[in-house]
This record gives sequence, C-alpha cells and structure tokens, in this order.
Amino acid sequence: ASSFTSAMNLDQQGVSSIPQRYVLPPSQRPNIIHHDEHVLPLPIIDLSDFHDQSRRYQIINEIRNACKEFGFFQVINHGIDQSTINEALKAAEEFFNLPHEEKMCLFSDDVHKPVRYGTSLNHARDEVFCWRDFIKHYSHPLSDWLHLWPSNPPSYRKNMGNYAEAVQGLQNKLMEMIFESLGLNPSYLEEEVNGGSQLLAVNCYPACPEPELTLGIHPHSDYGSITVLLQTRSGLEFKNKNNNWEAVPLVEGGLVVQLGDQMEVLSNGVYKSVIHRATVNVDKKRFSIVSLHSFAMDKKIGPAKELVDDDHHQLPKCYNEFSFSEFLHFISNNDITKERFLDT
Ligand code: SIN
Ligand code: FE2
Repeated sequence: ASSFTSAMNLDQQGVSSIPQRYVLPPSQRPNIIHHDEHVLPLPIIDLSDFHDQSRRYQIINEIRNACKEFGFFQVINHGIDQSTINEALKAAEEFFNLPHEEKMCLFSDDVHKPVRYGTSLNHARDEVFCWRDFIKHYSHPLSDWLHLWPSNPPSYRKNMGNYAEAVQGLQNKLMEMIFESLGLNPSYLEEEVNGGSQLLAVNCYPACPEPELTLGIHPHSDYGSITVLLQTRSGLEFKNKNNNWEAVPLVEGGLVVQLGDQMEVLSNGVYKSVIHRATVNVDKKRFSIVSLHSFAMDKKIGPAKELVDDDHHQLPKCYNEFSFSEFLHFISNNDITKERFLDT
C-alpha cells in the first residue's frame, strides 16, 4: 500500500489527464445518456403524514408502482432533518480533506474489515479503477461500531452517527412499507430486519479532468435489502427498462431508495434490484452517503412463501436461498454479479 494513490491524491496533484488505469474500454464509457421520451420519470414519493392511515395507503401504492416499474425511487419529507444531513456531509468532507497518511491508517482491501478507507471498489483486484475514494463502516447497532470509526475530524463520530441512526429508522419504515406493498405483513422478517446489518459507504468523487473516460463507480446492483442514498450533486445513473442509462436527478432534501438483491429474491422477482453506476464531473467534488441494509448474517433469504405457489405453476419459485455471510464470502472471491442466485 506504500505506492497507493487515491483519486483524491490525483485531484490534489492537479493532473490534467487521468492515468491509464482509470480509462474504461470505449464500450463501457459513460458517453451516452438517453432521455427516453416514453419512459416515465423516476418517482418522487412524499412520505409526509405516513402515520395517517389513508395517506399510508396512498404512499404504499406509490411505492408498489415505483418498485415494480423501477426498483428505484426518491423520497422527500422523509423525516430526517436537513441539519443532520448537512452535518454528516460536512464530516465526510472534512474526513476526505485529511492528509493522505492519516487516512491510510484506515486503509484496507479486506472486505471483512468493519472500517476501511479505500479507493476504487477494491484497488487490489479492480482491472480498471473507479474515480472515487470511500470510507465504509458498519453502523448498526451504533454502539457496537462507533468506537472503531475515524476519530478525526473530531465531529465525525457524532455527526455521521446521528445520520446513521436517522437513516436506519427511515430504512426500517421503508422496509415495512415495501413488505406491505408486496401483500406481506409490515413486520415480516422483523427479527432479520432488526438483527441485520447497516453499512455506511461514504464516497468522495473528486473533480475529474476526463470524466468521459471513466466512472466513479462501475455498474452493479446492491446486494442487501434496501439502500438509502444521499447525493450532493447528480451523478447517479440507473439502467432503465430499455437498457439505457438514465440519470437520477438531484432532488433538494431528497433521498434515493434502491432495492437490493435480497429484496429481489424475497419478492420472488416481483421487484428487481437495479443496476446503477456513478459518473464523475469535471468541475466539482461530489459526495454520497450510502446506507446499505442487509438481513441478519446467517439467515437464509429466499422468496417469501406467500409469494410462491409451486403447485399451481403460476408463481414458481425463481431464486435459491442465500445468506448474507455466503454472499460476503462470494464477493470477496469473485466479481459481483447477481446472476449467481438465479435458479437456472
Ligand atoms: C453506489 O452505488 O455504491 C454509489 C453510487 C453513488 O455514489 O451515487
Ligand atoms: Fe450501489
């Protein structure tokens, strides 16, 4: 790791072109964004008054439509204070502005490390690097992990911790509503939800002199149940039903909700996890704080039995069971692909 160079290093050196290691083959470059006229815009769901029974019914309907059509939506009036968000973003910015050597104390390529700083996705393995630096840490239950988080900047633990807890609460509410939208009990898998993990990935995408040649993060689907993502600028894109890349517009005060592979499996494919990527831009740093929830480590997740009816061949079971620990083992040995869990 001594010769380790991060995207932030390159930005600070003021490079005017990107090293070859970051250059994607032409077919994978982010040059074309399609604006499919006939494709519906990504839904923005207003969560205000969700305690009210008739509002809740309406929200659940919107969630069902969004999950079926996109597997992706944005939420507003989600209950997380703007000040909590701003303070977490400030902590992120201050962390990435620390001297390289200080961040390197937390550097690791080992995906099992509970707290790790890095660049790209896994810089030991990636053939083409991503133009991003990250710090990832587990965050639920917070008291189990907080002491391992960066102690500098001094406000990091408090401010990022407040956001982590707030987003964890939101994630639970969203999951209840997603279960309900599938016709399941809102407290479905309650133990696995509460006993599950929350990983915060705090990303910094420095300005990039050649954004058309590289990506901030390569196309992937998230492995967990659901992800809640906060972005400071647009850059996130998802693959729509026509197989075209579409930008997720920046919504002031909004958060992006994405379904992960576990939710796809649990819903027996009624909902799909979505392939997404992040682009970079020439003039300004972009930050994102990504909260990934996964069901409890050793719980095997398969399609909900309520959503499978093998006897009648109408809703055949489409996926194998897998646990989060099996998945982690898998991703530490292979490239991430969701095809593995499809029953072939
Ligand atoms: C991710 O998908 O992990 C990050 C995407 C983003 O930063 O927008
Ligand atoms: Fe992701």
